[in-house]
Amino acid sequence: MAAYDIRVIGDPVLRQKANDVAEIDGALVKLVEDMLETMYAAPGIGLAAPQVGVDKRLFVWDIGYGPNAMVNPEIIEGDGEWVFEEGCLSVPGLSWEIVRPKKIHIVGRDLDGNEMTYEADELESRMFQHEMDHLNGVLLIERLDEDTRKSALKTLRDLQIGTPETKPAGGGLTLP
Ligand code: NI
Repeated sequence: MAAYDIRVIGDPVLRQKANDVAEIDGALVKLVEDMLETMYAAPGIGLAAPQVGVDKRLFVWDIGYGPNAMVNPEIIEGDGEWVFEEGCLSVPGLSWEIVRPKKIHIVGRDLDGNEMTYEADELESRMFQHEMDHLNGVLLIERLDEDTRKSALKTLRDLQIGTPETKPAGGGLTLP
């Protein structure tokens, strides 16, 4: 059994802007281990701390070249456009084609406190952008155009995924 249950749309923790990690200590390293275990069990290629109910700017990932974690990430710039069918463990079972920048430059810290920097493209870039959204309280459905978003919310209600959101972050998304 995974270390954590993954929070699902409707949970307010997914709608908060997460706080900077102040100190990288043993508890944070344990959190990363537990998040990776949870991510692999799901399975997923990325997982952000708010998805396990932890209000910290931290995510883990593995897109096929091993587990990794980034603390206090920041996207410096994006370039180009890329369409990719994107899903989210917090919006289970659904996915949509979403356009985002193709390449990004992201910087953050590793668990030793050293700077990490990536010039990421395509899948890696997309994963970083998606996890970064989680740290800002933004869910996949905000990346959809209005019509698609409405039908996505209806699908979520019909499938009884999550709970209706009454106080969305980032504006404009209220369920009846
Ligand atoms: Ni996600």
